Amino acid sequence: MLQLTYISTAAPSLSIYDAETILEVSRRNNARAGVSGLLVFDGKRFLQALEGDQAAVEHTFARIREDVRHRAIVELSRRTVEIREFGPWAMASEVVGPIIGKGDIVGTVIALTETIPDANVRELFRGFAKIRAA
Ligand SMILES: Cc1cc2nc3c(=O)[nH]c(=O)nc-3n(C[C@H](O)[C@H](O)[C@H](O)COP(=O)(O)O)c2cc1C
Repeated sequence: MLQLTYISTAAPSLSIYDAETILEVSRRNNARAGVSGLLVFDGKRFLQALEGDQAAVEHTFARIREDVRHRAIVELSRRTVEIREFGPWAMASEVVGPIIGKGDIVGTVIALTETIPDANVRELFRGFAKIRAA
């Protein structure tokens, strides 16, 4: 299975409505494609992990890359994993952050990354949340 993480910057025009639409469409498409992961949005940047069958993840990421609602997309890691490290709940993505989430971005991200055995990937998400919350 392929696990891919990237960071990107939201387009200046991106609204809360857009972010909710992205989440809704992602949940639907990812469930169908057997792609899971985590999407953290802090109102300005996206940090996303995608996991699943290699071809499914590549196809999904190729679509995401073309999306004008974000830019400066930087791939951070690409790993082969035996099991879904982002947990079984995530037949979709989670969005947390001051805009759409409950506000406790750090606490939520720590909880959502509890199952990730790889320290680099785990700390990537936790560090992002801590910096963005600070
Ligand atoms: C930050 C970000 C993350 C996204 N994540 C996903 C995703 O995980 N899965 C997905 O299918 N689309 C995702 N999208 C949306 C895709 O870019 C694209 O709009 C969508 O897949 C098109 O789906 P449709 O053909 O069903 O309309 C994301 C977009 C952005 C801006």
